[in-house]
Amino acid sequence: MCGVFGYVTNRDEALGPILVEAAQRLTYRGYDSVGAATFRDGRIDLRKDVGKVDAVAERHGLRDMRGSRGITQLRWATFGAPSQVNAQPHLDSDGTMAGAHNGNVVNNAELRVEFAVEGMTVRSENDGESCVHAVERHLRRGAGPIDAIRLAYRDLEGDYSFVIGRADDDRLYAFKKGSGLVVGIGDGFTCVSSDLPSILPLTRDVIRLNDGEIVTLWADRVEVRSVQDGEVLERPVETVSESMDAARKGGFPHFMAKEIHEQPQVARELLHLLDASADVGPLVERMREARHLYLVGCGTSYHAALLGSVYLAQVAGRVAIPVLAPQFIAQYAPAVGPEDVGLFVSQSGETKDVLNALEAADRRGMVSFGLANVVGSALTRATQRCLPLGCGFEISVPATKTFTNQVLAFLYLAYRLGGRDTGELTGIPELMEQTIAAVDGPIRAIAQDLADRNDLYCLGYGATYPIALEGALKLKEITYAHCEGMLSTEFKHGPLSAVSDGYPIVFVAGPSDTPLIISGINEVKVRGARAITIGQEDARLRANGDDLITIPASDPQVSALLSVIPLQLLSYHMSVLRGFDPDFPRNLSKTLTVD
Ligand code: M6R
Repeated sequence: MCGVFGYVTNRDEALGPILVEAAQRLTYRGYDSVGAATFRDGRIDLRKDVGKVDAVAERHGLRDMRGSRGITQLRWATFGAPSQVNAQPHLDSDGTMAGAHNGNVVNNAELRVEFAVEGMTVRSENDGESCVHAVERHLRRGAGPIDAIRLAYRDLEGDYSFVIGRADDDRLYAFKKGSGLVVGIGDGFTCVSSDLPSILPLTRDVIRLNDGEIVTLWADRVEVRSVQDGEVLERPVETVSESMDAARKGGFPHFMAKEIHEQPQVARELLHLLDASADVGPLVERMREARHLYLVGCGTSYHAALLGSVYLAQVAGRVAIPVLAPQFIAQYAPAVGPEDVGLFVSQSGETKDVLNALEAADRRGMVSFGLANVVGSALTRATQRCLPLGCGFEISVPATKTFTNQVLAFLYLAYRLGGRDTGELTGIPELMEQTIAAVDGPIRAIAQDLADRNDLYCLGYGATYPIALEGALKLKEITYAHCEGMLSTEFKHGPLSAVSDGYPIVFVAGPSDTPLIISGINEVKVRGARAITIGQEDARLRANGDDLITIPASDPQVSALLSVIPLQLLSYHMSVLRGFDPDFPRNLSKTLTVD
């Protein structure tokens, strides 16, 4: 995830402070490099570097930049390592046009070769530069700016948005396809940004662009056109009345709800990231050769590791040992060595238990890799290779979008290790969208019924066992009710005695385990329990349980991933109904930097 912002006025202004403040508001989207370009008297002043906004602003005097138009970009490296040359914005071949993007151009490598063959100056490996050259290509061939963007859109594959401007002009152009873009209209200026909250301090009059829309921004007006036929579109200006806090929550009442709904988009971005990553190949090869392979994490990240071990065995035939980080130290560290590989999983990359385990592994010479969301965190720095989760900030204490992206990353690695085509995974984000749409209503009704219950079980089997554990953790964490996650077949070995009339038991049914789940359902139903099943549409599940929350049809691995969504929503709605703030549960903190 990156962030891009453009600003247009009609006089020479001190744009530096405006661009730096916008960049600070977009920091959550990217924080490995920052850049700004201003357009002044037919010339472009471009300053950019690796580092956080304040450091780069200080080093390169970004606050002193002047002009009548400006672009700033926050980069979170996907194509090309974090470096000054890969930082954005980028110039065209002769330095008379500058632009920056957010998103992923998936045919970047092929395009860079084509541009070079056509005689353009390609300076970086970054796909933002490909957006600039794609427009330059068609300007060189004689197209006007709007047509050049329309034709560039046909060349650039992926989900992205970009902002671009020419030195000898009085306007900026922006285009949206897949990644967010909002236009702001102020008094004597217009602006465009990756998100609404970064615009609100400047103006409350906005146009939220749709995919396939090109906007031209002058100081006193904007014009929106369709990328398909270039026709002008009527896009009324909307005056935003919501507070800054509400805008940061994207119109949702809580960050948790927003982050649950962001899951399809961040999953899409993660697949692009992994396709482009130079680390995946070597990491997979080392995993293949390992004597023993350990997947290490805590809490939700451990549940992702647990599901990762199921995927690696089911898809790639590779045994991996999932382990809670402190137990890794106590149980396995004395036995590991340089032939072994550990994959350390953490949203924050700062969890002390995980870093302790990593230290213990390092002392034994074990090869260590990471899977982390926060770029620049201790885990990303301390492991030999670290794959990103690409979720942007997760503000809500309960992990949601980072869990699904951890799981997706494991599934991707299992596909690579098993020699399967990762292209088969591209349908997952859409299935996630369908799941959210299908389950939210029915889950709200169940949350209403269960709101007063203080004891629940959540049972799964095979790939849905880690999901049952994760669902139970989420329920405990934000409803403060007791919920135990278990392997469904273990229930009869003890907990069954707790069942009495109306006792709620959630079954997470994988499509290949239906008969086993039906046995479990009947076992508890005859003792008076209420059996709520999450699974694919199946007449047998419907006939045997009390409620069936249906998720879209897919294979067992993907089905497990989808089935966590209703559990996240159940926890969320129950928490709100019980009068709690799901974003900030009592006694907990987002990052646990203590032993
Ligand atoms: O940052 P990490 O993924 O290392 O954090 C590990 C756990 O503390 C974390 O997953 C915790 O269990 C979540 N808040 C649960 O929602």
